[in-house]
Amino acid sequence: MIEPGRLRRAFEALQHADTHARACWVCDLDVLNARARRFRAAFSDLPHLAAYALKANALPDVLAALRAHGFGADAGSLGELEAAAAAEFAPAMTVLNGNGRTPEEAGWVARKGVGLVNADHVPELDLLEDAAARVGTMVRVGLRVNPGIETPGHHYVATGHEGAKFGIGPGEALVAWRDRARWPRLRLDGVHVHVGSQLLDPGPMARALDGVLALAEASADAGAPLGVINLGGGFGIDYSGAAEFPLEDWARHLIARVSGSPFAWVVEPGRWLVAPAGALVAEVLWVKWRGGRRFVVLAAGMNDLIRPALYGARHRITPLEPRPGEPAPAIVVGPVCESADVFDPEALLPPLERGDLVALHDAGAYGAVMSSNYNGRGRLAEVVVSAEEVWLARRSERPADLAARDQTARLPAR
Ligand SMILES: Cc1ncc(COP(=O)(O)O)c(C=O)c1O
Repeated sequence: MIEPGRLRRAFEALQHADTHARACWVCDLDVLNARARRFRAAFSDLPHLAAYALKANALPDVLAALRAHGFGADAGSLGELEAAAAAEFAPAMTVLNGNGRTPEEAGWVARKGVGLVNADHVPELDLLEDAAARVGTMVRVGLRVNPGIETPGHHYVATGHEGAKFGIGPGEALVAWRDRARWPRLRLDGVHVHVGSQLLDPGPMARALDGVLALAEASADAGAPLGVINLGGGFGIDYSGAAEFPLEDWARHLIARVSGSPFAWVVEPGRWLVAPAGALVAEVLWVKWRGGRRFVVLAAGMNDLIRPALYGARHRITPLEPRPGEPAPAIVVGPVCESADVFDPEALLPPLERGDLVALHDAGAYGAVMSSNYNGRGRLAEVVVSAEEVWLARRSERPADLAARDQTARLPAR
């Protein structure tokens, strides 16, 4: 969580440069650096690649900071591959994931090289093989295995259960590894599991680990030893601030369980690193009373931070300068024309007035990256704070930016 004083400083600096700014994202690089150091220290005894999941937050300053701490990059699309390359992550430390591989992605990895591509299913291997053959290169590939493991929390972030769209069954993966000579341009010796996001209990990760170790043994027995085990991400944060994912305990368990094993290891943390390093700061536009209830209308909405509407997530909301008075119930909403545009239906907040600033905390992961232009709203500026410095890392979108893609370009009939 970022200190209110730093949030205020960031917002005021932005308003000085852009008098129309009524909300913005703030990223605190000092918080991020502390978490990055802690993550690296926890896993330091494991020979591994920690590939940061760009999908959580791909702000160039975030990527530069994490690269400097020795993280690699986990990309899930062509855009994220490009973002990782622009941030100068070494190709060998870049992993490509995703369940909708395109010919363009396959061509990109064949031409530019990555450390590992995790294929979501077996026919994708033909696409990767063709792309590698065209360039005359080799691509290292893992198979995403669906371990059939349930995880607690919202079902939208559960990815390793039987009904999930990701990966293939262990039996199918075993056949592909055994028959890997079918794809001579692929070094098909990896397994990838990612049971889900936002785990506070590492139990499902431990079960997935047991499963992949058994699978790797079965593959070796079938004459196809594996070389790399990718355990995905999922390290959660407690948005209420009451508890936390037992990172060091989990790392100790993992290291004790796999020490001396012949594998290269990959983990793909996203949220744990960046969520507490970000906040959404917004002005109170209106305080409206109806039927005895207090609605606090913010200048940011679900198009900016969709997690509450999408997952029922609750971010702590605090005024940057609390007014005197007892906290009382408030329904904190955005200005978007949707009843789902509610950040917290049962917040407890001190008195608030128009123009006050509030922060929605722990919004550094799956925040700005998921924002949209819904309701004709420009995406918000992203401001970075570090020690005594504040800078604008991404400007806000103006109405002209939103119109910039519109055209009437006649498409020739074929
Ligand atoms: C394959 C994969 N790896 C890593 C992550 C990062 O997960 P988290 O941010 O929960 O650590 C995700 C997120 O969905 C993912 O799909």
